[in-house]
Amino acid sequence: MRIIKVKNYEEMSKKAAEIVAAQVILKPECVLGLATGSTPIGMYDRLVERYEQEGLDFSEVRTVNLDEYVGLSGENDQSYRFFMNQHLFHRVNIAMDHTMVPDGLAADAEKACTEYEEKMDALGGVDLQVLGLGPNGHIGFNEPGDHFEKSTHRVDLTDSTIQANKRFFASEDDVPKQAYTMGIGSIMKARKIIVLVSGAGKADALAKMLHGKITPKVPATILQLHSDVTVIADEDAFSAV
Ligand code: GLP
Repeated sequence: MRIIKVKNYEEMSKKAAEIVAAQVILKPECVLGLATGSTPIGMYDRLVERYEQEGLDFSEVRTVNLDEYVGLSGENDQSYRFFMNQHLFHRVNIAMDHTMVPDGLAADAEKACTEYEEKMDALGGVDLQVLGLGPNGHIGFNEPGDHFEKSTHRVDLTDSTIQANKRFFASEDDVPKQAYTMGIGSIMKARKIIVLVSGAGKADALAKMLHGKITPKVPATILQLHSDVTVIADEDAFSAV
């Protein structure tokens, strides 16, 4: 793993945006794997700036997102489709039909998951996957468990994730209890991965991801086995390493 230690959230966002922008410049028709949550918001803002000020061109870029809440439509302002439209897609020159987020309202969950994997494969795989890190070590919505899930699947969210994410909802009861997520296998297939980590709340998860035993109980530990991972983390996140 390549580790980039930065001072704070702003520096993390800038560094991450530089790596994504370099990918887009080097391969304009690249496939980006994208993440939601509070962590990548600053990175998206910097990418929008580069689009506005330098003409960073997203017209040929394809994107696939990691996850989506079960039961939320793309119009729901808590859905990850809404998030992506708001923070990136509607602010740059990407074609909406080049963007993919799992459908939270899919009638047939199994079929939807299989099709998501097939569509990723048809795109030729992900060139650069952006990841955040859950406080319990989850990536996407791959929660701690007794085995690594291979491909896109529907998952029951753990209580700790529901607690961590309730800040975005009016009340805890409004937090969906299930999500669709790319599997660990889908994430590991990406040619390059960057992991963004900020804040003391992630310190324990970061320490385990970097130096802990590889175990599905801390899903991010699997990243130790990927050949091209760059971790960009700030000083607070490094407080337990
Ligand atoms: C959410 C998302 C993850 C994200 C993580 C951290 O549950 N499914 O993709 O990385 O939690 O979120 P945040 O960046 O808000 O701390």
